[in-house]
Formats: sequence, structure tokens, C-alpha cells
Amino acid sequence: MQQLAAQIDEAAAAVRASWSGTPKVGIILGTGLATFTDQIDQEAAISYEAIPHFPRSTAIGHSGRLVCGRVEGTPVVTMDGRFHLYEGYSLQQITLPVRVMKALGIELLIVSNASGGLNPYLAAGDIVVIEDNINLMGANPLVGVNDDSLGPRFPDMSEPYDRELIHRALEIARLEDFAATQGVYVALCGPNYETRAEYRFLRTIGGDVVGMSTVPEVIVAAHTGLRVLGLSVVTNVCSPDALTETDGHQVVAAAQGAEHKLRKIVKRILADMAAASNGRMEPAPRASAIAG
Ligand code: HPA
Repeated sequence: MQQLAAQIDEAAAAVRASWSGTPKVGIILGTGLATFTDQIDQEAAISYEAIPHFPRSTAIGHSGRLVCGRVEGTPVVTMDGRFHLYEGYSLQQITLPVRVMKALGIELLIVSNASGGLNPYLAAGDIVVIEDNINLMGANPLVGVNDDSLGPRFPDMSEPYDRELIHRALEIARLEDFAATQGVYVALCGPNYETRAEYRFLRTIGGDVVGMSTVPEVIVAAHTGLRVLGLSVVTNVCSPDALTETDGHQVVAAAQGAEHKLRKIVKRILADMAAASNGRMEPAPRASAIAG
């Protein structure tokens, strides 16, 4: 297989051929959250098929294009459709777009997803601001020979989610008057939803929400020195003792119903960034961004 760095260069060149902007923020839209693209002052929309080495989206609720433009004045590149391990791709393929967005210039990655609520205080439609994660996918995107020019062999994961942005996201939810709490996201391979015994286990080990994505992208973001904000939309309640059936179409519909909350958080954070780049309150870079 071609070297990762060469794949990144080729994919980034294909994006640059269609869009001359320099994004500050990369956004990955999770299941049912695609309508966020309405908020983008679009300058380009590039099909994944036109980008070398990008996989194709096959999951329900996921389109397959990179939408480039501005939100609240901040230049963004947005993945309208993400990739999952259960689609049969390797985690290295799934996370290539994160590396490409980094090569294009992003400093912050905003990842979103639909999840099952393990914490009994969570209800469908709630937002969880991800404070930490547990990788139970049985795979890791950094397996293989490490390219030291991309990041360290053994990246630190003591704080993959940016503290300042977690607090700001929670504050925005309070200001906008909707429920949001911080929590731990557990990632499994899928594609089946979990059994009662699995939900019980996942809660016992410290999970607040469970899903089939996000962690690979966050590991690569840590590897490459990006700040990360993770936002999860609870689409179903996972009570092991009173479990009802979970259906993929219901998950998509529940995520769509809560997209307006996610939108409020993301837009205000992007407005903060635009204000900061106009000379006010520049947030500190991650320490690993300096090393990486
Ligand atoms: N489990 C795993 N992934 C999910 C769930 C769930 O209950 N809900 C939405 N994505």
C-alpha cells in the first residue's frame, strides 16, 4: 500500500484544486446530523469519489461529500458523511480524512455522533459533551509502522478532548436552555446494537454513551496534534432492565430531531473563533500540537 503521507498529499491536493480556502476547523457530521450543512456559506462541495484514497459512505444517514466554506465567519471543512469500522474499512482508511483536514490547515476537529444513552439520567434528544472515551473497537488506527513526521509512536491520551471547549459547550447549552452534560463515550465496532448484558457491562466500566464511531478519529487527532470537541446526540435509552428494540431508522430520526441543539453549540464556538482571530481571546494551543 502507498505510504500514508503520500496519500494525504494527493487527497489534500484534490481538495485544493476545488477550493482555495484554508480551513481552521474540521467538522465530522454523525448519523442524522447532515442538515448542519445548511449553516455553511458554501464555497465548494466535493464528492468523496473525487478525492483520491477516500472511502465511499455506505452507512444510513450518511452522504459522501466534503462541504467547504464559512460558518459564522470561520472557514470550515465539513464531512457530510463519515466512515465506520463496520462498513469494512480499516481504521487507517476511516481516519485518512482527519489527516487530510489537518494538512489543509485545521487546528480544531469537531466530531459529532449519535449514541445510545447508558447513563440512566440521559434521555433521547439530550446532548453529551464528550469528556473522555473508551476504545472497545478491538482495533486502533495507529497500528503499523509509525511515520514520525505525522505524530509520535506513542501519543498521549491524558486529555484528548479540549477542556476549555467542553466548558464552553456546556455553557452554551445552558445559555440556549437545553440539557447537556459531559460524559464518557464508549466505541464498539458494531454494526449490531448491544445486548442487555453488554449495556450493563458498558455502564459498569464507566460509559455514559455508546456508539460505533468517533474514537478512531479522536485517536488520530491526538496523534496529529489537533484540539478536539466531541458532541454526542443521545438517540435511544439503553436501560438493560427495561430495554426496547433499537432500530437504525429511529436512531437517524432521533438525531435529526436534536440537530438544532448541536448546531447552536457549533455555531457559537465558531463565532468565538472568528472573534478570536479578529484579535480577541485567542485560545491556547494544545501542548501536543507544539510537539506534533
Ligand atoms: N449502540 C451503539 N451505537 C449506537 C446506539 C447504541 O445503542 N445508538 C446510536 N448509536
